[in-house]
Amino acid sequence: MTTTDRTVEDAGRASPRPSPASADDRLRRLLVSLRDLGADVPLPELLRRLVEVACELVGARYGALGVVGAGERLVQFVTVGVDERTAARIGHLPRGEGLLGHLVDHPRPLRLPDLTAHPASIGLPPGHPPMRTFLGAPVRVRGEVFGNLYLTDKQDGGRPVPFTAEDEELLVAMASAAGVVISDARLLDVAERRQRWLRASADVVQDLLLEEAASLAQVARHARRAAGADLGSVLVVDPDDPAALQLVAADGGAGDRLLGTAWPREGSLVGRVLEVDEDVLVDDLVTSGLVAEGLVAEVPGMPDGPALLVRLPRVGAAARPGALALLRRRGAPVFDEEDRAMASDFARHVGLALEMQRAVAARRRLALLDERERIARDLHDHVIQQVFAAGLRLTVLAGRSSDPGVAAELRDVVAEGDATIRALREAIFSLEHEEPPDDLVTTARELVREYTGVLGSRPSLAVDEPFPAGDLPPAVAAGARAALRELLSNVARHAGASRASVHLAAPGGRLEVTVADDGVGVGTATARRRSGLRNLEQRARELGGRCTVASPVDGGRGTRVSWSVPLPVGVRGSARPADDAVGR
Ligand SMILES: Nc1ncnc2c1ncn2[C@@H]1O[C@H](COP(=O)(O)OP(=O)(O)OP(=O)(O)O)[C@@H](O)[C@H]1O
Ligand SMILES: [Mg+2]
Repeated sequence: MTTTDRTVEDAGRASPRPSPASADDRLRRLLVSLRDLGADVPLPELLRRLVEVACELVGARYGALGVVGAGERLVQFVTVGVDERTAARIGHLPRGEGLLGHLVDHPRPLRLPDLTAHPASIGLPPGHPPMRTFLGAPVRVRGEVFGNLYLTDKQDGGRPVPFTAEDEELLVAMASAAGVVISDARLLDVAERRQRWLRASADVVQDLLLEEAASLAQVARHARRAAGADLGSVLVVDPDDPAALQLVAADGGAGDRLLGTAWPREGSLVGRVLEVDEDVLVDDLVTSGLVAEGLVAEVPGMPDGPALLVRLPRVGAAARPGALALLRRRGAPVFDEEDRAMASDFARHVGLALEMQRAVAARRRLALLDERERIARDLHDHVIQQVFAAGLRLTVLAGRSSDPGVAAELRDVVAEGDATIRALREAIFSLEHEEPPDDLVTTARELVREYTGVLGSRPSLAVDEPFPAGDLPPAVAAGARAALRELLSNVARHAGASRASVHLAAPGGRLEVTVADDGVGVGTATARRRSGLRNLEQRARELGGRCTVASPVDGGRGTRVSWSVPLPVGVRGSARPADDAVGR
């Protein structure tokens, strides 16, 4: 539609001619307002203020700025004049159909006495305030259409009046000035975002490599903050079931509820990231069709708006492929190409740091094996020979002794020496040949598998990374293994549960083994502990720790037992206390 078309529409009306003074005045006000919109205003705030200025300038009751994203869609909608309750009643953002879609496809000024009469109009959605007069103009940033400014319902002294040709000129001038201001703000915004991501990359690498190690929860947290997302999470392929994904770390909205949950890989966003090995940007999680709507509805407080997913190579103890998922709540600005590139770099840094972390752990394990070999050699070459030589000398002495009592005693000592040599040989044999027992995570995984049949469903297993699985002192590892066995067997025998979960963590210098279920709970009548729980308690106490039973859990059903003991200084775990998320 051209300007002439519109003036024809207007021709019948006597549009109020403003006095030259008021036009000057309005222009001056516009210039002042634009000057005051300095580059230090954050972009979302800047957009809102631009709409306000536009409304004020032409006396419109409602104003909006629709930002057009890739694929010619509206990706952001900043409104003025519509209060939050009304906005909530309307619900979703405009989908870019109807008149707004027309403006996206035809980025030219448009002035209408009645917007509902336009051929492209499809009417207003339910709950939308009634609107009639309409004035729209595109905003270009560096020659590209950034979006459209829309104004509706011009008022003059409380009376509805049509927009004038002069209003249109002013709005067009305003839109082109806005393009320049937005361009500056965008450059600054990108620079700031880049800086945030760079800092996050540096911090996470440092955390993962230094002694005070970070967990994947911290990866999620750094990424969430850098991205300005509402939820940051890490999902990995389940080592026992490649068709399933596990959410192993989360930070932000609904994170606690999501931790440890399993998601189907097929048809999911993460699944797609893993299959096509490409990062994914989504404007709206629910309408993307890549997450079952029910899954989102099941988790109260889960952000369901724009999403950004990037691949995270080889995560966790089992080095499984995974993804970093960043979500914003509905209505928040969408992630753009810049975000994707920066998050992707961040993920690569995390991948490298995790790889180095594994190399360090492998080296430590090799050093341990070397040490065992050296001890075995020393025992064989030195200790056994010395005990043997001492035995020989005692045998000679016994032969020389004239006191039969002394001689008999000396021969007893020689026999003890022989026994010692035999014991040493056995120890050497086991040092050289016995495989060190499985690390705790492997044991936990095997137990979870073993109990799947008994419990009727597979207990979930969450391990807070980094976890010193292979570095635990033998007594601690043995205690933890016993705790896992006993607690899972208790769930199977007493709980009648439909769900069980196992959580391993090493927060702040402690090892924590937690098993939770949603069964009948340890009633007061049965709280009398028998040998199982008593043994666990005793073992924990011997190691300076404790075993605590919580039942019912969080005011509901079920039981949660935590077996927790201190770790020696130098055994690396996560730096912050574990999320207490098991069993929710
Ligand atoms: N997960 C659970 N859900 C419900 N009740 C439990 C659970 N764990 C323990 N109990 C209750 O607490 C009691 C004590 O457990 P404990 O492990 O000490 O003994 P036990 O399992 O009965 O016997 P043992 O372990 O010596 O074979 C159990 O008999 C049971 O009544
Ligand atoms: Mg028991």
